[in-house]
Amino acid sequence: MNWIDAAPVAALADGQTVSIAVGRTMIAVARSGDEYFAIEDICTHDGAELTGGAIEGTEIICPRHGARFCLRTGEAMTPPAYEPVRVFETKVADGRVWVRAD
Ligand code: FES
Repeated sequence: MNWIDAAPVAALADGQTVSIAVGRTMIAVARSGDEYFAIEDICTHDGAELTGGAIEGTEIICPRHGARFCLRTGEAMTPPAYEPVRVFETKVADGRVWVRAD
């Protein structure tokens, strides 16, 4: 288990995402209400970054063509994406958001 310090909690407003690099993997860390999520930052439709996409509830909307992904499971909820994105566990400790990357 490898917990990565992603960002201070104060840096993530509700509905905001930040992108972090873990090795060669880009991860979008998102806040929705008081929940924090982490998903691979590559849309499975055409490779767009999901960081910056609008967040509605527990879904993020790809800014390029509008596919929706579940932030909890990574499941593609609407076309034009059909394949899921990877998800990563998150936690809040010491005023910071942490992402578990194996
Ligand atoms: S690149 Fe994300 S929906 Fe097309």
